[in-house]
Amino acid sequence: ERTLVGIVGGGPAGLLLSHLLHRSGVDHVVLEARSREEIEHTHRAGILEAGAVQVLVDAGLGRVLRDGARHDGIVLRFDGADHRIDLTGLTGRSVWLYPQTDVFIDLANQRAADGAYGAGGSGGAGVAGDVGGAGDQIRWGATVTHVLDGGGDRPGVLWTDRQGRAHELRCDVLVGADGSHSTLRHTLPESQRRTFVHEYPYAWFGVIVETPRSAPELVYTTSEHGFALISQRTETHQRLYFQCDPDEDPTRWTDDQIWAELQRRVAGPDGFRLVEGPVEERSVLRFRSSVVEPVRHGRMLLAGDAAHTVPPTGAKGLNLALADVVVLHDVLQTWLAGGGRAGRRDDTVLDEYGRRVAERVWRAQHFSAWMSGMLHSHPGETEFAARRRLAELRMLVASESGRRFLAEGYTGWGPVLGE
Ligand code: DHB
Repeated sequence: ERTLVGIVGGGPAGLLLSHLLHRSGVDHVVLEARSREEIEHTHRAGILEAGAVQVLVDAGLGRVLRDGARHDGIVLRFDGADHRIDLTGLTGRSVWLYPQTDVFIDLANQRAADGAYGAGGSGGAGVAGDVGGAGDQIRWGATVTHVLDGGGDRPGVLWTDRQGRAHELRCDVLVGADGSHSTLRHTLPESQRRTFVHEYPYAWFGVIVETPRSAPELVYTTSEHGFALISQRTETHQRLYFQCDPDEDPTRWTDDQIWAELQRRVAGPDGFRLVEGPVEERSVLRFRSSVVEPVRHGRMLLAGDAAHTVPPTGAKGLNLALADVVVLHDVLQTWLAGGGRAGRRDDTVLDEYGRRVAERVWRAQHFSAWMSGMLHSHPGETEFAARRRLAELRMLVASESGRRFLAEGYTGWGPVLGE
C-alpha cells in the first residue's frame, strides 16, 4: 500500500495532523496500536493554553468553548496561604480546563464523521471505530513492527493488524507521533541522534475522586510535606495529585490515607480543607524531561511526545504536541507542493519544521522544569534548599514582573519567535 503521508500514532498529535491533512486534501494513513476506547480512557492532563484552544477552534473543533471551563487565574499556595496569579489581568490570555481525553474524543469523532474510519461516518460510536477496514484512513489496533528505509526517499513500515496479519505501508513522508515510547525515534541512527534528558527524584500520585469542587481555580500547593495540585473535571468528579516516590505502589494506599496526605499538604491557618469522597482511579505519573535532535531523518519526522517529553507540572505536553502539528502541517504542505515526483522534492524544506518548533519546545522545557523544581521538595533536600525555594515563591508573587513571567509561561507565550 502507498500513501503520501504515513502517520504512526493516533493520539491527539496524530489525529490533529490527520484532520488538518484531510482538510487540505492530502492522502494519508494513520496507524495506531491501541483501540480508540483504550486511548479515550487514559487520563492525561487537563489544561489547554489559549493558543491550543485557538488551534482547535480554527480546525472546526469548537466543543471546548462550550464544555470546557475558562480559567482566568491559578493559585499558588505556600506558607499555608493562597497567592492568586491573575493570568488574564497580567497577559490578556486565559487557559481552558478541558481534559486531553476530550480533545482526543473531539478529533476521533470528527475524523469518523469525515469517513476516516468506522464505515460511513457512524459518528465514532465506540465499536465501529475498532473495525479497522482496509481502506480506512485511520487503522486502530495497527502495530508497527519494522521501519523500512528510515533515512531514505521512500520510508515505510511493516505493521500487523488485530488478526495478526502483516501489511506494508510505503509513503513519501513518515511522521512519528507515537508517543514517549516512540518506535520511530529509535530508528534514528545513534550516530546522528542526540537526546537531552533530565530525571527527577519524585513523581505524582494522581487520583480521580467523586466530590464537588474544593476550589474555583487550580491550586498548586507546596508545604513541608511536599507538593499537591488540586485540579478539576466536572461538577461531580475532580482530579487531584500529590508528590510521591517514583516507585510508589498506588494500590497500597487506602482512600483514607490518600485524603489524609492531601489534607495535610493543603492545610493552613486559613482552615482550607478539601471536600472528601470516594477515590475512583489512581496511578503514579513519572517525571521526565527529554528532547531529541534532530526531529528529521531523511523523510521521517517526529512530533509531540515522540520528539520531547515534559514533566506534568504546568501541563505543557499536549499544548506542545498541538503546536508541533500545526507547524508540521504547514511545512508538509510546502514540501508536497514543491514538486512533481517525490524523489525530486527538496528535503531541506523539511528542516524548517525542527527550526520553527525549537524555541517553543525549549521554553516549555524550561517552564516545566522550573515549576517542578520550585514546587516540589527534593528527597533529602537541605534546609537551605527548602528555604531558598520558599524565598523564590515569595519573591515571585510579591513582584508583578514575577507574576507576569509565570503567567506568560502558563498561558503559553502567544506566538513564539520562529513560528
Ligand atoms: C492538570 C494537570 C497538570 O499537570 C497541570 O499542571 C494542571 C492540571 C489536570 O490534569 O487537570
